[in-house]
Amino acid sequence: MMAAFTLAHLSDPHLPPLPAPRLSELMSKRALGYLNWTRNRHKYHRREALDALVGDLKAQTPDHIAVTGDLTNLALRAEFAPAARWLQSVGSPADVTAIPGNHDAYVRATSHCFGEVFADYFRSDAASEAKFPSLRRRGPLALISLSTAVPTPPLFATGRLGRAQLEALQALLEGLAAERLFRVILVHHPLRSKSHIKRLTDAADLIAILRRHGVELILHGHDHVHSTMWVDGPDGRIPAIGVPSASALAHGHHPAAAYNLFAIEPEGNGWRCEQIVRGLDDTMRVVELHRVPLM
Ligand SMILES: [Fe+2]
Ligand SMILES: [Fe+2]
Repeated sequence: MMAAFTLAHLSDPHLPPLPAPRLSELMSKRALGYLNWTRNRHKYHRREALDALVGDLKAQTPDHIAVTGDLTNLALRAEFAPAARWLQSVGSPADVTAIPGNHDAYVRATSHCFGEVFADYFRSDAASEAKFPSLRRRGPLALISLSTAVPTPPLFATGRLGRAQLEALQALLEGLAAERLFRVILVHHPLRSKSHIKRLTDAADLIAILRRHGVELILHGHDHVHSTMWVDGPDGRIPAIGVPSASALAHGHHPAAAYNLFAIEPEGNGWRCEQIVRGLDDTMRVVELHRVPLM
C-alpha cells in the first residue's frame, strides 16, 4: 500500500522582532497596531517558540507544508525581507505553500508586497502569473490557495474574498470534479466567526460554493486557537481546522504555539485522514498533544 501523504499546517507566525517603524509609517492604522505590539504582543510572539516549532515540524519530514498567513505584524516594508528569509528556512517554494493574512495587507500602501515577495510560494503549477485562487498539485492533493487579505479600517481585522476570486474558485472546482483528488482549501480567515470585526465578510458565498462542489479539508489561521469546525459539502461534512499562532507563548485564551500534521491516504472510494496536533509544552519542548481521525 502507498504510504500516507503528510501535510503540515502552521499559521500566524507574526514574525518577531518587529523592526522600528519610520514615523511616516505610523501615520495610519499602524499607530494603534504599533502601540498594541509594544504593550502586549511582543511578549507573546517569540522567535524561540517559532524556531522550536519549525524544528520539530521539519524533523517530522512532512511531504508538504502550508502556512496560512499573518507572516508579518504591521506589513512594514522592513518586515517582508525577514519574513521571506524565515519562510525560505521553512522550505523551498516546491515544498511550502503560503498565503497572506490580514496583517500582511495591514495598510493599503504595502498591501501588494505579499504578492510580490511570496509569489513563488503560492503560484499555480506551471503558471507565469501568481494570483488567487491558485492550484498546486502535490501527491494526491490539490492545494487551493485563497486570499482574504484586504486593508481594513482601524480596529478591523475582517477579510474578504471578493466576487472575482469566488467565481474563479467555482470554475476551478468544476474543472477538478472528474479527478480523484484530496482537495484542500487554504484560507486565512475561519469560515465562521463570533466576532463582527474579525470575520470573513463574504464567508456565506464561500460556504455556498463548498456545499455545491465540496472539498476534503479546509485549513485556516487568524483566531490563534485550536479549532475544528464542520461545513456542509455535497456528500457530507467537511472539516475546517484552525491552529494557534506558530510563535505564541500561552496567554489569556490563546494556547501556546502548535501545528497540525495530516496523514492522508485513499481508502475505498474515499479517504483516510488522521490529524496529529503537536505543540509547545511549558518547558518549550514540542510534544504530541492530540491525535484524531478526521475521516
Ligand atoms: Fe494572526
Ligand atoms: Fe489574522
